[in-house]
Amino acid sequence: MTITTEPAQVRATAPHALGYKDFSLGAFSFHRDEYFAHVRWTTRDGRPMSHTLDAGDFLRALMRDVAWGFFYGWVNFDDVIGTVNHYQSVDLYAGSFNGTMKEAGIDRLENFPTDQIRATFEAMLDDWTNAGFDPFAAPQETGSAHGRKNGSNTAKITRARELAKRCVGLKDDLNLRSDERGAPVNRAFADVPQAQPELHPEPGFENEVHAFNLFGFLSRSQVTWNPSFTSVVKYSFMCPTTEEHKLPIIHGNDRVEWFFQMSDEIVWNCADKNTGKPMARVLMKAGDMAAMPAYCRHQGFSPKRSMLLVWENGSPKIPELIRQGKAPDVAVSF
Ligand SMILES: [Fe+2]
Repeated sequence: MTITTEPAQVRATAPHALGYKDFSLGAFSFHRDEYFAHVRWTTRDGRPMSHTLDAGDFLRALMRDVAWGFFYGWVNFDDVIGTVNHYQSVDLYAGSFNGTMKEAGIDRLENFPTDQIRATFEAMLDDWTNAGFDPFAAPQETGSAHGRKNGSNTAKITRARELAKRCVGLKDDLNLRSDERGAPVNRAFADVPQAQPELHPEPGFENEVHAFNLFGFLSRSQVTWNPSFTSVVKYSFMCPTTEEHKLPIIHGNDRVEWFFQMSDEIVWNCADKNTGKPMARVLMKAGDMAAMPAYCRHQGFSPKRSMLLVWENGSPKIPELIRQGKAPDVAVSF
């Protein structure tokens, strides 16, 4: 394999005939052509295996994995490949959480230092994303991922994740979104009122008493399926997001995750986290709340751009407490 000028941990070839580089990480390799991403690996007993995804689906999933720092727990790109975040290191797997492939012994899981897999994924995302394709945008709001290598879209794939320290709009914290800041109201939310609440704090409490128009804030999101922190109280993270089309990953959380459907509708497919065996379909309408158990994986489908509030308990202790049986993997037991 020819090594080119990537960061030291990244193994990449020179561009092939279609203009894209091949990448490799441990016993996994990644190749893209005009329509597809092909992932190849060696099984635990040494056999060569491969898997194919649509290039657009692959890049949308890769975009989330990179932007979210590998997120909480499992980021399944589809039923075969994905990552598990251990917060210092990350597992990359193929078939390890697919009951049929696991039983057939054709799976592989390898653990990598976070910096190494991040550098490889960032380089692959940048090389494989053409000008005009924005993997964070709704399908109706971007060009195609397909075709031969055609420029790049680095600005769109390196957006800073919006993470409030305390609350959006407070002094020295994440700014409210506005036309001037490049965040116009989305076409789907043209009817959302933009007025801000009146605030009358006592003198000396101006930076403590706070409120903002969350619907207005979300109406101006330029991306989809990208939870941002709008308020943070210790490990309580309010992560509202706008959703359109499908969640580009199948998320298997390592803790219970709460959803509040703030507008419109999302259908969720829920499955066993370890095998992918289907468990439930959940239709959430505006005003509905749900808690996804830590033993499931879930993927949402939003026919119209909708607003979803995701609440995460971000305590780093929770996955281990669940493993030890000291914390529940469901929100409530009856
Ligand atoms: Fe999730």
